[in-house]
Amino acid sequence: MPYLKGATVGRAAATVASLLALALAAPAADAASAEAGKTKAEPCMACHGENGVSVADDIPNLAGQKAKYIEMQLKAFKTGKRKNDLMNAIAPQLSDADIADLAAFFSGLAPSGTAKSAMSPKVAKTNVTFPEDYKKTYTRYYTINFPDLKQVRDYFASPDLMAAVKAGKPVPNGSMVFVEVYSAKLEGNKPVTAADGFYVRDKLTLYTAMAKGSGWGKEIPEILRNGDWHYAVFSADRKRRDTTNQATCLACHKPLDKDDYLFTIKEIKAKAK
Ligand code: HEC
Ligand code: HEC
Repeated sequence: MPYLKGATVGRAAATVASLLALALAAPAADAASAEAGKTKAEPCMACHGENGVSVADDIPNLAGQKAKYIEMQLKAFKTGKRKNDLMNAIAPQLSDADIADLAAFFSGLAPSGTAKSAMSPKVAKTNVTFPEDYKKTYTRYYTINFPDLKQVRDYFASPDLMAAVKAGKPVPNGSMVFVEVYSAKLEGNKPVTAADGFYVRDKLTLYTAMAKGSGWGKEIPEILRNGDWHYAVFSADRKRRDTTNQATCLACHKPLDKDDYLFTIKEIKAKAK
């Protein structure tokens, strides 16, 4: 069967040719590796999901996305050309090799529709508990209006945090910053402003908190870790909302490493003086 034989030989030759092409391509030391990407992707999975299918409706899936596109987006987040508070905090921590590996990994996963993944337990877990005595012992150091959200928020800091900042020392374990979030009283659809310039408080809707404890950051991947700080949101009835993805808090506060991850450090310092 000369015809078949010819075809087999032809195929064998093609195989040799493609093996040769692979062998020639292999020495490129910077070839992207999906295997390496998988290891590097642990912090990404807290938001984009273990299989590249994200954990929330406002976070895109990455599974099956084109590698080139993933690479371009990560580079745009890294330079700040594409803006997003979370990704702009994460991408600058990645090298070009990391970006290529991550793109190879996520592009190789099977796309999977509209499903949602579970949050990463190591990142979502928080040790922050409600500070029952904060009204008595914490210092209220700041208030801000949030016009877009029609909210006014009051900021409180624990005594040990205030003392350390006053002494010019690092914030110790056991410290907490605690925020009361109020909806503003509305007239028509506009917040009513009091004589002090702040919105009149209507209902306390929730609390946000960050607290620090020995070893708390240990399990959190470095790209997201905020030293030993953990974060939490509490409902008005003082119950912790365990649906909060702590990864979002960690990512957005991450660039403030030089200020102990505190956005309002200036206001705390001013009050501590
Ligand atoms: C804290 C949550 C969070 C983490 C952790 C995170 N991302 Fe994202 N990522 C987002 C959000 C939110 C967006 C959508 C940004 C926007 O709206 O522009 C996004 C967008 C992206 C996009 C663009 C997707 C598109 O469709 O345009 C890529 C690529 C990406 N992330 C890769 C990564 C990689 C790789 C990691 C890990 C190194 C990572 N992300 C970690 C939240 C996160
Ligand atoms: C998009 C970025 C962003 C995300 C995500 C974010 N924060 Fe913040 N956070 C801020 C900014 C900016 C401030 C300073 C003033 C303000 O907006 O409240 C702040 C302030 C705080 C403060 C007061 C102490 C400080 O740093 O000044 C606490 C407590 C806090 N955030 C908790 C949380 C918690 C809990 C989460 C997650 C559920 C979270 N944050 C997610 C941006 C963010």
